[in-house]
Amino acid sequence: MKVTVVGAGAVGASCAEYIAIKDFASEVVLIDIKEGFAEGKAMDLMQTASLNGFDTKITGTTNDYSKTAGSQVAVITSGIPRKPGMTREELISTNAGIVKSVAESLIKESPGVIIIVVSNPMDTMTYLTHKATGLPKNRIIGMGGALDSARFKYRLAEALDAPASDIDGMVIGGHSDTGMIPLTRLATRNSVPVSEFISEERMAEVKQETKVGGATLTKLLGTSAWYAPGAAVSAMVQAIANDSNKMFPCSCWLDGEYGLNDICIGVPALIGKNGIERIVDIELDEAEKSELQNSAEAVRKTNQLL
Ligand code: 2OP
Repeated sequence: MKVTVVGAGAVGASCAEYIAIKDFASEVVLIDIKEGFAEGKAMDLMQTASLNGFDTKITGTTNDYSKTAGSQVAVITSGIPRKPGMTREELISTNAGIVKSVAESLIKESPGVIIIVVSNPMDTMTYLTHKATGLPKNRIIGMGGALDSARFKYRLAEALDAPASDIDGMVIGGHSDTGMIPLTRLATRNSVPVSEFISEERMAEVKQETKVGGATLTKLLGTSAWYAPGAAVSAMVQAIANDSNKMFPCSCWLDGEYGLNDICIGVPALIGKNGIERIVDIELDEAEKSELQNSAEAVRKTNQLL
């Protein structure tokens, strides 16, 4: 499988690195507008091949989309990341133009490509990619829920003093500090509800820590995070490559699922060789339904800025 990663910044390079280390793709093309940057990152990563034991070929190019031709999957990480104190929504004016032109250039070279959008504000950038390209809805996926769920599991593992591998849980809704909905009711430790292990108060803290997970890191790092975002995208690319039918919460175009239309927002979906194979429309309780409605309203407000 050939994968293109647009944007050789921290998230793009991390994503390329994880894809290579897992060794499921034949080729990864890193593309960036900064002269020589993607070439440099690709060369640096390729020099880890004998150390890390992968055969994936990573190449870099300065804005030459012809090098991306024939990609089965493309990941869009381009645009600016947020700085401490900023919301993801504040990035829209810069990132919208970039994401639109990147998506158009990708499709010109790879008409069958499946696009995974990472750039923020992610749900709105996923919506924009749909509107700008008119691709079938299964072929545009927003990465957000996969990352937010990993952060939720990290916080739950911390609160339960358990290994993360014991924990299952997911976050739906918009990929924003207020829009995320960690589904605490459904979270488990090896099939046992996490409520058996922690108090309601601690659970409320975990929920809040999860929602501001990205902001917490941005404050610590001075820019937004890259390891977990890179790992989350690479896991989604791997599910497409292996046709795994693996369930990820991710930003999907909704046609009535969860009572929503004309919006991209995080819901659980099965990911396989066609991208989104199926949206999993689970029954939410009344409180979760109302949280999702509020989250959708906020996403719509950002979409209106386009
Ligand atoms: C995050 O770290 C990149 O939005 C992203 O949450």
